[in-house]
Amino acid sequence: MVKNAMTADYLRSAYGGESMAHMRYLIWGEAAEKDKKPNIGRLFKAIAYAEWAHARNHFQELKEQKGDFTVPAGAVFGHTDTVENLQGAIDGELHEVEQMYPVFMEVAKFQNEKGAERSFHWAVEAEKIHAKMFKDAQDAAKQGKDMELGPVYVCSVCGHTTADNLPDKCPVCGAKQEKYQHFV
Ligand SMILES: [Fe+2]
Ligand SMILES: [Fe+2]
Repeated sequence: MVKNAMTADYLRSAYGGESMAHMRYLIWGEAAEKDKKPNIGRLFKAIAYAEWAHARNHFQELKEQKGDFTVPAGAVFGHTDTVENLQGAIDGELHEVEQMYPVFMEVAKFQNEKGAERSFHWAVEAEKIHAKMFKDAQDAAKQGKDMELGPVYVCSVCGHTTADNLPDKCPVCGAKQEKYQHFV
């Protein structure tokens, strides 16, 4: 439950940003598949799922804030080729990692909003990984290739994303292994 207006504003903004990232990655994922880069397409779709988990967590924190709001939120636009789409993805993730979530977390901490602080923390930990994965994808796409990519695992609780091994439990939120969604 959120008590303070400023934290509520930031939760709504983060919800808006994550919702739009979710949609954008589904669109760019479909474009990567058409561009004959199925692994990059699968990466976009797995990360779209992680952004959905973030949006849901922020929305859940706002469950008692009923009403219709206009929500200002960062949104990356542009829909061209796979390399450029990946640049948009990298820029969006880095904005969240370097500016948006650190500021939102400080405000939540200052206002003693523990649920919001946790929701922001879970999101930013995943966004750091997303930025790196999109960079790896872009390195391959710049050479005209698809990326090398094994199964991608996304924690349905916090959005933690990994392509290495299925963790025994989530290193970010502590959820059990069976909470991970598999993108193969
Ligand atoms: Fe992300
Ligand atoms: Fe998790």
